[in-house]
Formats: sequence, structure tokens, C-alpha cells
Amino acid sequence: MEKYIINGGNKLYGGVKIQTAKNSVLPILAAAVLTEEKVRILNVPHITDVKNMVKILNCLGCKSVYEGEDIIIDSSSADCSEIPRALAHELRSSVFLLGPLTARFGKAKIAYPGGCDIGLRPVDLHLNGLKRLGVRIKENNGYIECECEKLAGNEIMLDCPSVGATENIMLAAVRAEGETIIKNAAREPEIEDLQKFLNAAGCKVRGAGSGTIVVEGVKKIRGVTFQPMADRIEAGTFLIAAAMCGGEIAAVGASGENISSLLHKLRENGCKIYSKNDKIILKRKGALVSVKSIETQPYPGFPTDLQAQMTALCCICRGQSIVTENLFETRFKYVPELRKMGADITVIDRNAFVRGREKFNGATVVACDLRGGAALVLAALAAEGRSEVLDISHTDRGYGLFEYKLRSLGADIVRVAV
Ligand code: UD1
Repeated sequence: MEKYIINGGNKLYGGVKIQTAKNSVLPILAAAVLTEEKVRILNVPHITDVKNMVKILNCLGCKSVYEGEDIIIDSSSADCSEIPRALAHELRSSVFLLGPLTARFGKAKIAYPGGCDIGLRPVDLHLNGLKRLGVRIKENNGYIECECEKLAGNEIMLDCPSVGATENIMLAAVRAEGETIIKNAAREPEIEDLQKFLNAAGCKVRGAGSGTIVVEGVKKIRGVTFQPMADRIEAGTFLIAAAMCGGEIAAVGASGENISSLLHKLRENGCKIYSKNDKIILKRKGALVSVKSIETQPYPGFPTDLQAQMTALCCICRGQSIVTENLFETRFKYVPELRKMGADITVIDRNAFVRGREKFNGATVVACDLRGGAALVLAALAAEGRSEVLDISHTDRGYGLFEYKLRSLGADIVRVAV
């Protein structure tokens, strides 16, 4: 168990290199099972979600080697299609393997996935999509079992634009016979990135980024070297940190286009933001002004993965804000912890009513999920005095070298063993 000790109040200055996107790397790692040739993913982030996904691939018989910042996955020796319960519980993205494993072996068995405890997070859309491709599914004893002789393309209409279900179906459909059309598909940039990866590996996918994705099945998927996109959520988190602490930072390698809904709100908060080459630069002088409302939505709306960090920011804005969480039921679990730091927030159903005050006060708080944990770190950085953030294994799931990067911007933060 480790914790952060943070002495708040320092302004942040400088440039921070944004890591490769967690939510892009995870489905691409799952996709590596589809080919018997080597897949090289460049600049993988130092985060536990990726390490756990690699552990799962190793359990399936794949060989993985790190070379510098890159990872090479060789799935030619994969010989197992069952994911052990303990590993599946570590990581919700283990469910992405249902599609590729069924495509490769004609079967897959996986325990119900874990991950952040942020609500019900069912997998019905994943399973219904796979059924439409001809997969027989049994749910038994906490396990999902898939079986099929051959996958057949079909039209699939998603009830809601689930990111994971869209990706899982794409990952099975690339090996199906004929054409699959996914309607009401998620439009997140990470899905476009997965399409780029798959096409580089010889698949035929089009339409990602729109609500309709068309996949023509192919017989063979090749090995490929691929650089996934930058992590827009990490970039957003650093920009919100600078907005809360004051100063001027550049998120290097990030695309403003992918988080325009956040940048729009931060400008309303009183920050100056511009993009130059491959940098997003944010400057904050003077007091933050509240934005009246923030509502999480599927892309291109405001991302749920930046909701907690933005709620923390609202706490130190002049005026009141309402933050509405439309995607995950229990994504306000960090609120009682923020209250220990002086936040004035009332949560009713899916809405957090935030009354801004000048500053947070330092306190000892406990991270309870990945993005909620990040929100607590940001609050501590902006707080007056000393804070401790406990249980930082949650932030380690998605933020590589978090404290190093924050220190390089001038923050006073150290990691210590408990
Ligand atoms: C992905 C992201 C996560 C992000 C989320 C929403 C990864 C690894 N994770 O998660 O960081 O917060 O998108 O942008 O990419 N739903 C169902 N049935 C299903 C699947 C989803 O009802 O079978 C519902 C969920 O409960 C939720 C909504 O659909 O309300 C969106 O979830 P989804 O887009 O699937 O999120 P994830 O893929 O789990």
C-alpha cells in the first residue's frame, strides 16, 4: 500500500509529455490475440491496467517482451481461451478478449470483469452483439462462456453507444465471414484508433468516429507496429490541475480536438487556452469563475472520465455549479473525501450541486477509484497545507509516473509506503 503526501499551493509551470492512451492500448492488446504474427505497440504507458492486461495475455500463452518503452506481443503460442477469475477481476477490459478469443479459438471463458467500482457496468451489449455474430453464450457461476464454429457477419444495433461493446464486436467481426454493420456505435477517438490499428494489420474496417461502423471479415490478420494515440484523459487531468493551481502548462503530444468539450468549459472558467504544434497550452491567472452546468455524455460530449477532476475544480470556483453524471451510477464516491478538504457539495441522484469556495484545506483522504483518486490529488495540489491521499493503487491504474510528472511542473508531491 502506498500513499501520496502533498504540500499544496504551488503553481504549475512547464511542459508535460502526455502518455499513450490507456483506453486505446487496452483493446489493441486484446486485438493482438487475433494474429499469429508479432504486434509491437510503441510507448506503452507505465500503468497497472496495461500490466494486468499483459499478465492476462501471458496466461493465455502469448509471449510478451518489453523493449524500452515498447511492448512486443507474440500470440503464435497462445493455446488457452480461459481467463482466470483473479485476473479478470483486476481489470474490466479483460472482457475485450471475448471477441478476439472466440474469433481465434472458437471459444472463450472469462469471469465477470472487475475494474473501477463506478456503477453496474453490465456487459449485455457485448454479449448481444457477439450473439448476433453467431456466438452461443452461457452464463454460469460468475463465468461467461462463448462458443461458435464460425462467426458470421450481421447487422447489430447497440441500445446505447457503449465504447467497450463497440470494440469487442469490432474485434470479433474482423474474423467473421461477410460484412458486419454496427449501428449506434460509440464515436470515441479510441475507436478510430482501434480501426487504424486493425486496418494496419490487414483488416477492413470503416466508419469509426461515426455512429455506423462497417467491418468486412478477413481470413488473415498480420503483425504490425503501431503507435496509439495520446491519452486525452491524462491530458485533461493535467490541464485541470493547472487551472486549479494556477500557472501555465503545456500538454505535449495531446490533441485539443479530442477534448474540446473540456477546453470549452475551462475557457468559461476563465483560463486562456491555445494549441500550438502538438501542444495544448493552458494559462490561469486570477480567480476561477463557475460554469453553471457540466453534463457527462458519450463523445463528443463531456467525458465521464474527467467528471471527478472537473467537480474538484468547481469546488474552488466563484459561484455555483451543477455536475450531472449520465453514464455511471456511482461515480460520485469521491465526494465525501473532497468534503474532508472543505468542499461544499450535495449529491442528489445523478447531480452534484457544488457551491464554490476560495480554497481546499489539506486533509487525509482515500482514493476509491481511478478518476476519483485523481480528483483528490488535484484538490490536494491546490489546497492550503499538507494532505495525504491513501490507496493510490487506484490512480496507478491509469496515470503513469504521475508524481514525477507533477513534480516536474513544480508540485510538492511524494509517494511513500504506508
Ligand atoms: C469505456 C472506458 C472508460 C469510460 C467509458 C465511457 C475503456 C477501457 N474504458 O468503458 O474509461 O469511462 O468507456 O466513456 O475504454 N453499458 C450497458 N451494457 C453494456 C455495456 C455498457 O448498459 O454491455 C452501459 C454502461 O453501464 C454505461 C454506458 O453503457 O452506462 C457506457 O459504458 P461503456 O461505454 O461500455 O464503458 P466502458 O467500455 O466500460
